[in-house]
Amino acid sequence: MPNRFYVTTPIYYVNDVPHIGHAYTTIAADVLARFYRLRGDDVFFLTGLDEHGQKVQQAAAKAEIDPQAHCDRLMPTFKDLWTKLDISYDGFIRTTDPQHQAVVQRCLQTLHDKGLIYQAEYTGWYCTFDERFWTEKDVEQGLCPDCQRPVEQVSERNYFFRMSQFQDRLKKHIHVHPEFIQPDSRRNEVLGFLQKPLEDLSISRPKSRLSWGIELPFDKDCVTYVWFDALVNYFSGLDYLGTHANAPAFWPASVHLVGKDILTTHAVYWSTMLMGMERPLPQSIFAHGWWTVDGEKMSKSRGNVVDPFAMIKEFGTDAFRYFLLRQVPFGQDGDFSLSSFHSRYQAELANDLGNLVSRTLAMLGNFSQHMVPRSDPQTETDLDHSLQQTASALSEKIEQHLRALEFHRALEAILGLVQMANQYIDKTAPWILAKDPEKKSRLQTVLFHLVESLRFLTLALAPFMPHTAETMKTRLGLTVDISTPTLGKGPIWGEYDYIHPVTKGTSLFPKKDLPSTSAHQPASSPTASPTTEKKIDKATPQSPSASTDSDTPLIGIDEFQKVQLKVAKILEAERVPKSSKLLKLQVDIGTEKRQIVAGIGKKYAPEELIGKTIVVVANLKPAKLMGIESQGMVLAAGEKEVLSLLTVQEEVQTGSKVK
Ligand code: MSP
Repeated sequence: MPNRFYVTTPIYYVNDVPHIGHAYTTIAADVLARFYRLRGDDVFFLTGLDEHGQKVQQAAAKAEIDPQAHCDRLMPTFKDLWTKLDISYDGFIRTTDPQHQAVVQRCLQTLHDKGLIYQAEYTGWYCTFDERFWTEKDVEQGLCPDCQRPVEQVSERNYFFRMSQFQDRLKKHIHVHPEFIQPDSRRNEVLGFLQKPLEDLSISRPKSRLSWGIELPFDKDCVTYVWFDALVNYFSGLDYLGTHANAPAFWPASVHLVGKDILTTHAVYWSTMLMGMERPLPQSIFAHGWWTVDGEKMSKSRGNVVDPFAMIKEFGTDAFRYFLLRQVPFGQDGDFSLSSFHSRYQAELANDLGNLVSRTLAMLGNFSQHMVPRSDPQTETDLDHSLQQTASALSEKIEQHLRALEFHRALEAILGLVQMANQYIDKTAPWILAKDPEKKSRLQTVLFHLVESLRFLTLALAPFMPHTAETMKTRLGLTVDISTPTLGKGPIWGEYDYIHPVTKGTSLFPKKDLPSTSAHQPASSPTASPTTEKKIDKATPQSPSASTDSDTPLIGIDEFQKVQLKVAKILEAERVPKSSKLLKLQVDIGTEKRQIVAGIGKKYAPEELIGKTIVVVANLKPAKLMGIESQGMVLAAGEKEVLSLLTVQEEVQTGSKVK
């Protein structure tokens, strides 16, 4: 009997188009859903839209259309985004679905029949934006303590759910089940909130004030409070959505993913509602952090709301999925900027992962007629074994991290193998082995190790970057179906029979310039300015006083950027006959081997240079020095004499850009 895994996202208000915050939770849920499916678990992944309430009614009024028409108009934009982001949901719920409305009414009736709902006159401070009442002690200077917008005093007859009855039981549950609210800091926040006496929850609104909602089954003049309606989606959705034969059996949810701002509604309202209905509580509620943009709060009025569609268009779906989960630990706040996105894209996706795939497949083409050779155990070394071990440990590491919702750590582990495999190429230098017929079986062992590492990476990447994983699978000629349970306890090194040729294909992550246009949704305020551009300007030296030697003309960053500087490794070195100064070097610049003639022969003997990591100008026009072609230039310090070759302080991958 497979394990059941049920993951949910919040259902999003349809008062506006989706932004990065919506994409964030939904991508995280998708990674979990895909991961557990690959493990062979029975998975249900629910997302959807919160279509009732004052916010939606107001947005519809602003657009001068009926609320239902407004929801129908916005719904496809959300679905379109999920398609573009490869979101594999099993159910997409809309709270205007008649089946959902019926379940909400059933829940209300159950609580009413049990005497857990009563009617009372209520006067309080109401925040329209947050759609909730505050008490006198919460409100300072007439402002909502949550969103700082003005509150209004409202007096009305409402229905209340006896939430206060469940306070002690909830506290106890949280203490006994530490995994119930995560991360720990958020659990403490909720416990702090529960220190104060819990009040009963107003669960209705008079139709005279708000008509857009689900009618109470026991009072035709009232509609249901939008949060009561929305929270019920987590089990109403199981009733009628998706293709699972026994979907209701998925309750209780394995994890509700929510943003930190809606933790109280989930941890307190929802849990006590479930207690009232005598239903089990979800196994866990995980509150993730919020994204700021260029260090500022993201908001429409600031004009800095990140548009997921624009990001996908510029960098591709997988890069966007990768960045959001890699950049910050899931429970913490993080900052989004185009420049940090771009740096990670260039370094980790284009240089590390993309390069590894293209180098390996190119070498298979050049040295093995596109076929994957077998490893010869006689020629295996410690280097091979440690690559093997790292690859074999990967799936367990990912599982550990994903169980703790440490997406960034799982991706870090994947990147670790990518970097290790790149270093393995540098250290084993297959192009040198290829020159020596006696090293043929060593070369085969090396190529096999690289392809096996890529196979492990393909499977590891599948939940995070499904499209990239599919492409890698096709290029490696793998016949496994990576969308069905394949991971089990993880792949086993050497167990796969490679029978199909590999194909090189184009770059998985082509290098990009930092986009000058912003990825922000249109600003509602004309004063908003794209802050990313400001950041780039700051890094650009402009003042003449920042110049170096007074007689050296200043160049702009544009001119400097035309020079392509790269980290390279010296593979071979020999003296140029009849020259005391010139050495002929063969260097690896990551993507290819180059011959460079350098005037460093007085300072260095050829043999001491082999294996050194240096910096070269990679896009210099080829020139002949003493009749020998030089395809680049090495960088060295010194006025007339060379004193020192330029190198890099930390170990970085060959071919890395120097900027
Ligand atoms: N409709 C309610 C949820 C009901 S769930 C039963 C709602 N909707 S929302 O559209 O306003 O917000 C949805 C989610 O977006 C929340 O989890 C919220 O935390 C998240 N985010 C909104 N802005 C965000 C960021 N700047 N960063 C990360 N997530 C953010 O609340």
